[in-house]
Amino acid sequence: MPKSAHLIAGVLAPLCLVTFFLSTILAELLGSHAAVAQLKALIVTPGLWIMIPAIAAAGGRGMFLARSRKGRPVDAKKKRMPFIATNGLLVLVPCAIVLNRWAAAGTFDTTFYIVQTIELIAGATNFVLMGLNVRDGLRMAGRLRTSPPFATRSS
Ligand code: HEM
Repeated sequence: MPKSAHLIAGVLAPLCLVTFFLSTILAELLGSHAAVAQLKALIVTPGLWIMIPAIAAAGGRGMFLARSRKGRPVDAKKKRMPFIATNGLLVLVPCAIVLNRWAAAGTFDTTFYIVQTIELIAGATNFVLMGLNVRDGLRMAGRLRTSPPFATRSS
């Protein structure tokens, strides 16, 4: 149970992020202000209510699974986790909330786009960090083969 919970949360969290990221870019480039406002509302509810618990569950379950593990991938995952959590809680959540408020009020000024850019950068950063955690996790679980340092020839 703990392993499957970690797998589900560990896939769900980056999936939420990439969905928010791509839909934001599409809505900003192609959508109306009403579409952007609608998307901002959806990112807060249900979006954040899915992503934040998924990050917490991935981190919590991961720490539990790592109790009996040692080595570089585990250490790297442990080091990345505080950045992922801090970035999520202190940057992504506040950005999503204020952007939703401003968009609902029809305030699409320079400050809106500055905060939008910060949110996209923070989102991309967390996506990369989570992606590395997924890669290391899949390797540790034996689902992804580590590439050999040198290519070998059979002849
Ligand atoms: C948001 C952060 C994280 C993500 C996205 C993530 C993702 C994953 C994924 C996708 C797997 C593969 C699971 C499977 O195939 O069954 C995995 C495995 C694993 N993760 Fe994480 N993880 C995260 C955080 C952590 C943390 C903080 C730790 C603690 C060091 C950790 C420790 C582990 C361990 C030990 C495994 C191997 C489990 C096994 O042997 O089957 N993870 N992780």
